[in-house]
Amino acid sequence: MHDDRLDLDAYTLDRRHFLWVATAASAALLMTPEAFAKELTKTPTQTEGPFYPDRLPLDRDNDLIVIGKSLTPAVGTIVHLTGRVIDTNGAPVRGADVEIWQVDNRGSYIHSRGANRRRGRDPNFQGYGKASTDEKGRWRFRTIRPVPYGGRTPHIHVIVKKGRRRLLTTQLYIKGEQRNARDFLYRRIRTQAERNLITLDYKKVKDSKIGEQTAHVDIVVGVTPKDPKPKK
Ligand SMILES: [Fe+2]
Repeated sequence: MHDDRLDLDAYTLDRRHFLWVATAASAALLMTPEAFAKELTKTPTQTEGPFYPDRLPLDRDNDLIVIGKSLTPAVGTIVHLTGRVIDTNGAPVRGADVEIWQVDNRGSYIHSRGANRRRGRDPNFQGYGKASTDEKGRWRFRTIRPVPYGGRTPHIHVIVKKGRRRLLTTQLYIKGEQRNARDFLYRRIRTQAERNLITLDYKKVKDSKIGEQTAHVDIVVGVTPKDPKPKK
């Protein structure tokens, strides 16, 4: 009896030891060089503001320059706005929805209370658009370079969603824009690193006869929601 108990204790001890070794070994396996890499800074959040469209336009695609099959494009400097949605480890977030909205060249939102009273609206600007991220987390829009309105520095509003879950709400600014320094919301961004994440470098497209520009931004979200399980 006594011996049995001893044996049992020995077994328990060994098993614990085995489990500890196994856990340590698995942890070591997980410690690839990437695990030691610094996490990316999350894209800072900013207020949604009052002008998310109260009625979404019929055309909600990622080309804000042309509504439906209209032949007249929106007025403004055309910008090819591209980016990725990634997590803090740099992994792409697939199948996320990126929504943007901004004022037209006259400083008006498509929101029913968002029109510039003096200048009215550009009837050819979509004002809002939506794009989904591909397998590499990429998305793109064709829109106009944002202009200032109502005391705000130029900006584009962005929401990133995965399914119904909102991952991020923020605003994108223009690098080198002097109004940034005076903008009450821009000034709320705490650090230069965070400011850099939402301040985009607008570059001229070489040889574009109509002065098109490009801007790129990687949006870093804190949580990677699991991809939905495939239906059987
Ligand atoms: Fe705004």
